[in-house]
Amino acid sequence: MKLDVLFTPVQADELFFTGKTTVVIDVLRASSTIITALSNGAREVVPVGTIEFAVKVSGGIFGGQTLLGGERNTKKIEGFALGNSPSEYSKDIVAGKTIVFYSTNGSRAVVKAKYSENLFVCSFNNLNAVAKHLKKLNEDVMILCSGNNNFLSLEDAVCAGMLISELSAHDKDVGLTDSSRSAMALFKSFGKNILKLLSDTDHGELLINNGFEPDLKACAELNNTDVIPYYSGNVLKVLK
Ligand code: MLT
Repeated sequence: MKLDVLFTPVQADELFFTGKTTVVIDVLRASSTIITALSNGAREVVPVGTIEFAVKVSGGIFGGQTLLGGERNTKKIEGFALGNSPSEYSKDIVAGKTIVFYSTNGSRAVVKAKYSENLFVCSFNNLNAVAKHLKKLNEDVMILCSGNNNFLSLEDAVCAGMLISELSAHDKDVGLTDSSRSAMALFKSFGKNILKLLSDTDHGELLINNGFEPDLKACAELNNTDVIPYYSGNVLKVLK
């Protein structure tokens, strides 16, 4: 099994992902929010690449049980039911619902990787479950960090490094690249206190300044669920 990392989606085009096993990471906050929504019983999450498309999609084809969720500049979008805080996606709100979801980096990274053979969503919340499943699958893995407006996000790189460490520990058959070795080095340097890491990152600081500090705590929770979002037929569902 070879493990590789893209630190931002701009490093590749859509066709690059054809046939690959891809893991999308957007710790703050899209992947953590998607995982929370599915853990709390959402029927599916439909990741979209534009706000206009989100509005169009929510207009009926998913049978009326649809909620629009996501953010622009970290804030809830006008006309949307939900923003991008994991806490908004509670059982009473999302159970049984289709969530059409747009976010600046995370949902767009999923859409970019849509031609993957296997496409999973990972954050600190479900890291162990993802690692366990990838071990079973035993395919080469491309980890796609969503980054921050085309720049590297330290929290995504550290999460990628933790996943790689988990997968490569005591396994001589795991092949690494310069990118995956770099992600592991970042995990070793910054991964000891995840909440502190998140608070110190560019995006973490922005979220704190915009009043979303509690979200950092939710996104820092390690392995609070075994739910793995899996992309198939244009939607993310819980991997069975
Ligand atoms: C994104 O997808 O860019 C993030 O989830 C932004 C955010 O924290 O709301």
